[in-house]
Amino acid sequence: MSVNKEIKKITTHTIQKMKESGEKIAMLTSYDYSFAKLIDGAGIDIILVGDSASNVMAGHETTLPITLDQMIYHAASVVRGAKRCLVVVDLPFGAYQGNSKEALSSTIRIMKETGAHAVKLEGGEEVIESIKRIISAGVPVMGHLGLTPQSIYKFGTYTVRAKEEAEAEKLQRDARLLEEAGCFALVLEKIPAVLAKNVSTSLHIPTIGIGAGGYCDGQVLVMHDMLGITSEFKPRFLRQYLNLSETVSGAVQQYINDVKGGAFPSATEQY
Ligand code: KIV
Repeated sequence: MSVNKEIKKITTHTIQKMKESGEKIAMLTSYDYSFAKLIDGAGIDIILVGDSASNVMAGHETTLPITLDQMIYHAASVVRGAKRCLVVVDLPFGAYQGNSKEALSSTIRIMKETGAHAVKLEGGEEVIESIKRIISAGVPVMGHLGLTPQSIYKFGTYTVRAKEEAEAEKLQRDARLLEEAGCFALVLEKIPAVLAKNVSTSLHIPTIGIGAGGYCDGQVLVMHDMLGITSEFKPRFLRQYLNLSETVSGAVQQYINDVKGGAFPSATEQY
C-alpha cells in the first residue's frame, strides 16, 4: 500500500481512523532533524523520539541514563524536520515515576519546549494516575506494555515477556486500563503474537508492535536497527532494510584513500 498523500497532517484522530479502516500504522524512531526530515518525507505515520536515543545516539547500555533535557533536545530537532507525521516523545526514566505531578510537569516541558504532539510512557496500573493527569491537561498519551526497557534491572533480561499466564493476564488488564484512562495508542514490545492479537482485537485504540507479531495495528522499529547502522543487534523480530554500517564504512574508507592519495579534491572541486 502506498502513502496516502491526501492526509496533510497526521493526528491522533488519523491514527484511530487507520485502525478502524484496517490501514496498518508505520512508526519509526528518530532523534535528529536530518533523519526526521527524510523519514517524514518518505511518508511515515508516526515518529517516536524514543529513549532508545540513550543507546543508539549516546552509546549507553540501557535507556536509563538519558535525561529529560536530552530528550527535549532530540525532540525539538525532530519536530523541526517533521512536517506531516505525528511526533511522539518518550518520557525518560526518572521524569514520571515519582508521582503524577512530576509526570505532568515533565510532559509540559516536552510540549512547550519541543512542539511535539504526544508523549509515551512505560507501564500499566502503576502509572495510570499519571496518564490520567497528563491527558486531562490535553496531551495525548501512548502507552507501552510488555518488555519495558526502563525496567530492565527488574526483568534482568531483554527476553520475551508475558509468556506465563499470570503476566499475560496482567498485561491484558493493564491494556484495558490504559484504554479506559484515555491513551490513544499502545506499544506492545516483545510479547507472544497470540497475546498481542488478543489485546489488539479487544481494544478500540490501535496497538503498535515491536517483536509482537503481525496482528498488531501497526509496527515500530528503532531506525538505527532497520537501517543496519547498529550491525551487532540482530533479534529475531528485526528486519534490516539496509546495511548502512557497511555502506558508510565503505564510503569513509574511499574518502580516506582519496585524501591520502591526493585524488580529492580534484581540479573541479576547488576555487
Ligand atoms: O525508545 C524506543 O525506541 C521505544 C521503541 C522500542 C518502542 O520505546
